[in-house]
Amino acid sequence: MSDLILEIDSVYAAYGRPRSLFTLGAGGAGRVEALRGVSLSVARGEIFGLLGPNGAGKSTLLACVEGLHQPEAGMVRVAGLPPAQAKGRLGVQLQKAALLDDLTVAELIEVYAALYNAFPSRAQIDDLLARFGLVEQRNRLARHLSGGQQQRVALAVALAADPEIVLLDEPTGALDPQARRVVWDLIRGLHDEGRTVLLTTHAMEEAEALCGRVAIIDQGRIMACGTPASIVAGLEVRPMLKALTELPLDQVRGLPGVHSVRYTGQHLEVETSEPQATLPALQALAARLGRTLGEISLRQPNLEDAFLRLTGRALTA
Ligand SMILES: Nc1ncnc2c1ncn2[C@@H]1O[C@H](COP(=O)(O)OP(=O)(O)OP(=O)(O)O)[C@@H](O)[C@H]1O
Ligand SMILES: [Mg+2]
Repeated sequence: MSDLILEIDSVYAAYGRPRSLFTLGAGGAGRVEALRGVSLSVARGEIFGLLGPNGAGKSTLLACVEGLHQPEAGMVRVAGLPPAQAKGRLGVQLQKAALLDDLTVAELIEVYAALYNAFPSRAQIDDLLARFGLVEQRNRLARHLSGGQQQRVALAVALAADPEIVLLDEPTGALDPQARRVVWDLIRGLHDEGRTVLLTTHAMEEAEALCGRVAIIDQGRIMACGTPASIVAGLEVRPMLKALTELPLDQVRGLPGVHSVRYTGQHLEVETSEPQATLPALQALAARLGRTLGEISLRQPNLEDAFLRLTGRALTA
């Protein structure tokens, strides 16, 4: 049997009316092409991350895998089956948690499990609640929980039917830093249990911490796919020299070794192939302008740098 649990081949997906002889003339008004030929495959047991700016097509791709959106063209196979036949294998956490408001946390887990023909015992439900830190919320209505607690309920619900493949759309989006770490551990736990995880995130450090492989997606197309390290290496992003200062970007661009320049917060970030040459030139420039370079650091390029290179934009949460 193939080791691939998820196969996505040349998928096109759109919202709105299809182009026709009539709408072509009007420019196909209201039509959005969300995916424009996406192919990727995920092996059993992987944690795979989809990264991309708002509107890139990440949630649409998950919806095609879940069978909630019918692609216009291309093929999706989940464990060799079309999505409609693979529902029992999938656990899904949607980006906007569509929790039924008038049920308690424990009831929600029962109801969602039953949708997938699973009937967890009380002990199994208690176990799930304990894993997600929801024991005290067990008998509370979902609508009375905080945003972060609701997100944890959505994660627990995704696991209610003991799925092989877990699809998580921004699983840590609304979580505080501590809860985020807890969810990271839970996701690693799913991996240790042999489950496959496909997740979306806007947090680069999350992708680097969790995902064996990632795909960077922008405007409905995959821009890069592989391990975070291979994506960074493949793009030949150079080391970044960072200094707490404000200098005219066009003058910094002209210094030796400099490939690109940007501001992140109050820091000047200079991508350079020759840090040893760039640093003294930067200091000289600052001195000429009567400025100083505070807090200088040199760091190796990371996934965020690769993302910026590929999409030309910063990630927006
Ligand atoms: N139900 C819908 N009807 C019409 N257009 C939609 C619908 N859902 C998404 N879109 C459009 O499809 C494109 C892809 O959206 P999608 O939700 O897949 O992006 P995303 O990568 O998940 O973004 P985000 O990071 O903001 O969640 C966007 O242009 C979006 O406006
Ligand atoms: Mg989304």
